[in-house]
Amino acid sequence: DWTPGNIADDAIASIREKVGTDEVILGLSGGVDSSVVAALLHKAIGEQLTCVFVDNGLLRYKEGDQVMATFAEHMGVKVIRIDAEQRFLDALAGENDPEKKRKIIGNLFVDIFEEESNKLKAAKWLAQGTIYPDVIESAGSKTGKAHVIKSHHNVGGLPDYMKLELLEPLRELFKDEVRKLGVELGLPYDMVYRHPFPGPGLGVRILGEVKKEYADILRLADHIFIEELRKHDLYNSTSQAFAVFLPIKSVGVTGDGRRYEWVVSLRAVETIDFMTARWAHLPYEFLDHVCRRIVNEVSGISRVVYDITGKPPGTIEWE
Ligand code: XMP
Repeated sequence: DWTPGNIADDAIASIREKVGTDEVILGLSGGVDSSVVAALLHKAIGEQLTCVFVDNGLLRYKEGDQVMATFAEHMGVKVIRIDAEQRFLDALAGENDPEKKRKIIGNLFVDIFEEESNKLKAAKWLAQGTIYPDVIESAGSKTGKAHVIKSHHNVGGLPDYMKLELLEPLRELFKDEVRKLGVELGLPYDMVYRHPFPGPGLGVRILGEVKKEYADILRLADHIFIEELRKHDLYNSTSQAFAVFLPIKSVGVTGDGRRYEWVVSLRAVETIDFMTARWAHLPYEFLDHVCRRIVNEVSGISRVVYDITGKPPGTIEWE
């Protein structure tokens, strides 16, 4: 019968049988799926696994360091961290269109991942965090914007340049099963039950052109929002919550005088399937507190708004 322990044991046995003494590479993103694959493979084949973590500079507050702390320092997984912030910023410079931004980010990720995997000449297998819903989704459509990265090279095999065999140990699992497996494998609960985060990251939460200044401001505001949600026990009752950077300036006034600075919107939704969603009716006092903290603590922000658009007619992300 189905228990996370059984699933883990079976998966480990079948990975060992398949892979033997071969080397495996995995693109680690910090998301739930690739994290669970990393933990699983580490348990199954230890040193034969090398993870490549591409830090695109569009991650959340201290996220890159957390990925390294959890996997490299804590668990002893071999992780190569590629600091690619400048390459992503350069590639995105001057681009305003949301879908083009997504393509730029997805393509550059694949390029960098390819560069790194080519250096790991001994690798025979490419592991991926494909889960059952990805398999279904990709069978129906090749144009869905979700999972841009994954769809580059998981469904229907690999592009020619990657002469690696695919290893997809989560292919038959649903998200809740993947999470239980992650906890079973010893991953931190908060990591495994984290809200989803889009592949293009802050790239689609900074409206229009992406700039480092905007990303740095947004990370701080987003961090305050999430930290307060957790503190007030509201994180788990919302399905997804984040801040969005609006590249417009607004006048404000504080003790120091007049400010003319950027605006952020807070977004929080409740949903089962992410296809439709209701905006989270967070308590006014809570929103008031978060707004005050953001304006007081994040230099560069003079105003905070709250998004009260459902899906439909809105999407969850702003781009
Ligand atoms: P929307 O904005 O379409 O989002 O209502 C629905 C869910 O999908 C996530 N999302 C993405 N995930 N790449 C991803 O990996 C993307 O380009 C992307 N766009 C949206 C979004 O965060 C939400 O959970």
